[in-house]
Amino acid sequence: MLFSIKPYERKIFEIIKQSAENLGYPVYIVGGYVRDRLLNRSSKDLDIVCVGSGIELAKAVSQQMRPVPRVTVYNRFGTAMLKHKDLEIEFVGARKESYRSDSRKPIVENGTLEDDQNRRDFTINALAVSLNEYDYGGLVDSFNGLSDLEKKIIRTPLDPEKTFSDDPLRMLRAIRFSTQLDFKIFPETFEALAKYKNRISIISKERITTELNKIVASDVPSIGFKHLFDTGLLQLVFPEMADLQGVEIRKGVGHKDNFYHTLEVLDNVCKVSDNLWLRWAAILHDIAKPSTKRFNDKVGWTFHGHDAVGAIMTARIFKRLRLPLDHKLKYVQKLVRLHLRPISLTKENISDSAIRRLLFDAGDDIDDLMILCKADITSKNEKKVARYLANYEIVIQKLKQVEEKDKIRNWQPPISGELIMSTFNLEPSRKVGDIKNAIREAILDGEIPNKYEAAFAFMHKKAEELGIN
Ligand code: CTP
Repeated sequence: MLFSIKPYERKIFEIIKQSAENLGYPVYIVGGYVRDRLLNRSSKDLDIVCVGSGIELAKAVSQQMRPVPRVTVYNRFGTAMLKHKDLEIEFVGARKESYRSDSRKPIVENGTLEDDQNRRDFTINALAVSLNEYDYGGLVDSFNGLSDLEKKIIRTPLDPEKTFSDDPLRMLRAIRFSTQLDFKIFPETFEALAKYKNRISIISKERITTELNKIVASDVPSIGFKHLFDTGLLQLVFPEMADLQGVEIRKGVGHKDNFYHTLEVLDNVCKVSDNLWLRWAAILHDIAKPSTKRFNDKVGWTFHGHDAVGAIMTARIFKRLRLPLDHKLKYVQKLVRLHLRPISLTKENISDSAIRRLLFDAGDDIDDLMILCKADITSKNEKKVARYLANYEIVIQKLKQVEEKDKIRNWQPPISGELIMSTFNLEPSRKVGDIKNAIREAILDGEIPNKYEAAFAFMHKKAEELGIN
C-alpha cells in the first residue's frame, strides 16, 4: 500500500479482498480516495470497482462484517453502498461506456479496469490500488496520474473533447480541483474548457452550484473564479459576476475593476472565515455596481444605490442558482445592503445614535459585517489601508461600548403592542404601530434609555401628542 492506513481500514480492505476472491472478481480502490490519500488529505468516500457485479460484492462484504451493515442498492446505476465507521463505501462493477453519434445516452457495458479508468475525468482521479492477492496494494496508473499528482496538474486521461462531452460538468470540476488543490490545469485541457464551454448548458443548475460552492469554500477561491472568467464559463453560469470585469475611462477618469476587486475581497474574507454565506456576501457586495454606474462631470464615476440594488439582485441570483432561499439569503442580503454603513461612520463624528442604528439593523451579524468591511479595503497604498483599518477599529470599539450600555444588538421592544392596546383601550390599528415606532426611534436616537420605565412614560407622552387618552 502506498499510503498509511488505519487498522479498521486495513480490516475492511482484507474483507473486500477475500469476498472478491471468493466471487472470482478482480477488485480495486479507485478515484478520489486514492487521490486524497496520496495527497495526505482525509477522505470519507471509498469507491471500490470490481470486474463483476458491484451489488453482489457489496452483499458479500456486508456478510463478513460485524455487526452486518445495511446495504443500499441502486439498481438503476448497478451500484451498492454501505457505511462503516466514518467511511461511505460504494461498490460498482467496472464499466465501459460508448456513445453513438445520434444519441447522448451512453451504452453501458461491463468492462475491464482499464475501460473503467478510461471513462474517468482526470488522470489524478483515474488511479487505482489493487486489492488482489497477486499484487495487493499495488498502484494501477494507466495515465501517469501519480506524476500529475506530483507535478500538480489537472489533465484529462483521454482527448479532452471526449472527456468533457461525456459529462460537461467535468469542465467545472477541472476548475474546482485546480482551486481546491492549487493545481495547474494542463494547457490542452484548459484550451478545451474555453472551446467546449457552451456544452455546460445541458447541466442542471444544482450540479453547477455544487461545484461553485466547492470553489467558494476553498482556501483561495479567486483561483477558480479567474479560470471561470478566462475560459468564458463564468459568463455562462454567473453572468452578473462576469459583468463586474472591466474599467471604463471617460474624460481621463477611470474606476477600479470591480471583478478583480471582488476577488480580493473574497480571498480576504476567506483568510479569516470559513462561513460560506459570508463568502457569498463578499462575492455579491458590489454586484450592482455595473447597473448603477454613472458618470458625473464633477465627481467622476458613481455607483449610488449599489448596496440596495445589490440586495435585490442577490435574491434573483440565489433563486436562479438554486441557492437556499431561507435565512441564509436574508443574511447575505443584509450584509450586501449594509456594507457601506460602517465606512460612512468613519467619515463623520460618530454619534451614539448612528452606532445604535447600525447595531439595530445588523443585529447579531454585526461582527460578520465588520469582517466584510475590513476585507473590502483593497487599496495598494499601505498608508491608506492603515488609516482605514484604524478608523474601523474606532468604530468597532464604539460598537462595543454602545452595545454594553444600550443592548441594541438583539433589541426587543420594551413595550409590546398588546400593552399599548390595553393601556389605551385600542383595537389593533395604525395608531398602535405609530406609538411603537416612536418608542423605537426615541431609543435609537438616545432620547430615552432602552428601559421599560422610560419607554412606558414616553408611550404616555406620545399618546397624548396623538390625542389618545
Ligand atoms: N468521476 C468522473 N466524472 C464525474 C464525476 C466523478 O469521472 N463527473 C469519477 C472520478 O474518478 C472521481 C470519482 O468518479 O474521482 C468519484 O467522484 P466524486 O465522489 O464526485 O468525486 P471525488 O473525486 O471523490 O472528489 P469530491 O469528493 O471532492 O467530489
